[in-house]
Amino acid sequence: MAVGIDRMNFYSPQYALDLVALAQARGDEPDKYTIGIGQSVQAVVPNYEDVVTMGVNAAEGLLTAADRAAIDMVIFATESGIDNSKSGAVYAQRLLGLSANCRTIEMKQACYAGTYGLMQAKDYVTLHPDKKVLVIAADIARYGLATAGEVTQGAGAVAMIVAADPALAVIADDSVYRSEDVADFWRPIDSDTAIVDGHLSTDVYKRFFAEIWQSYKGQSGHALNDFAGFAFHLPYTKMGKKALDQILPEASADQQVRLQEQLVAAQAYSRLVGNLYTGSVYLSLLSLLKEGRQTAGDRLGIFSFGSGAEAELYSLTLVPGYEQALADIDIRTDLAQRRLVTVAEYETYFQSQLFDSSQNQRTQAPLDQPGCYFLGWQAGQRLYQNNQ
Ligand code: CAA
Repeated sequence: MAVGIDRMNFYSPQYALDLVALAQARGDEPDKYTIGIGQSVQAVVPNYEDVVTMGVNAAEGLLTAADRAAIDMVIFATESGIDNSKSGAVYAQRLLGLSANCRTIEMKQACYAGTYGLMQAKDYVTLHPDKKVLVIAADIARYGLATAGEVTQGAGAVAMIVAADPALAVIADDSVYRSEDVADFWRPIDSDTAIVDGHLSTDVYKRFFAEIWQSYKGQSGHALNDFAGFAFHLPYTKMGKKALDQILPEASADQQVRLQEQLVAAQAYSRLVGNLYTGSVYLSLLSLLKEGRQTAGDRLGIFSFGSGAEAELYSLTLVPGYEQALADIDIRTDLAQRRLVTVAEYETYFQSQLFDSSQNQRTQAPLDQPGCYFLGWQAGQRLYQNNQ
């Protein structure tokens, strides 16, 4: 039976920072950010948004009444969760009005956990074809002001419904994966910013992709000419190019051109948002699907990577009429409508996050606007309101 992604949606905050302005403020060459690293704009997170609100906002755009009845599992993947005990999924279940007869769980392995969640969902629906699973991959990539990683920050959430006979894409049973204990990126439990050796993590990403690709070819029997494109985890868009360039000579001349064009399509939205850790590879997939050239029946490669480190490569096959499943989504327009903030405003937003649970504080949530909001802390609890 075919199981896969039925529909998917993306959400990112309404504020954004032009990275040319950031480069000038930091005394860097703008071309380093926009060409050398490949990022143009970065999402800026006000203190009334977090992974729960972003995940709920992404999922609200997807759920029909039939979905709400059939979903009996919510898998919430994040590196930047809001509690050390309670899962983001159980907050999302309530805020989305899902059934109480629902499993809710949070998963963590840096940027990789969204793919693990998707694979768990696929296995579950294969056993229970009348059920659906909601997978949310949401993160705030936060390195710190004036750090080397600052230019690669970002934020957002991707929500996906996994179902039998999906309207969008069938997940193939061809995954190849790899884990290795590497100290390239981590975040101690008392830190709100990541510790990263950026050059090491870039090298580990490239090595994992090259090694996994060799295993994938052997196990699946597929070659590079069989793919209509790849979606990559994109901590910054140049990373996708660094990975693909390693294997590109295996393709025919025409196919090399096609895969490079498809890579530009798969990078387009990440260039305007930045890193969203667990959701990044699925934003790249959405970008490829909306901006690229592919047709029903095409095979797309998905390369998921999480520092620390773990990676997985698998393929999706697009189903007939898949465009309809994305017809209501216009991410390019949504991103163009964000308000660009100054560097000073971005720094204020960055420093105004409410991380101290011992203070009863309120955020500046615009409660007269539709959306899901973090209201603030009350007696150590996070308060939320969903105005959909
Ligand atoms: N014009 C054009 N290009 C320029 C330039 C200019 N004026 N100046 C520099 N460049 C180029 C450099 O040549 C370099 O290109 P290559 O990588 O192709 O050689 C690129 O710009 C970056 O220059 P540097 O390496 O000198 O930049 P940096 O030392 O500031 O580090 C970074 C860049 C590693 C991405 C850093 O921003 C960082 O650490 N980011 C966070 C970690 C990260 O994103 N790691 C990636 C993989 S880890 C992962 O995937 C998991 C995850 O999400 C974290």
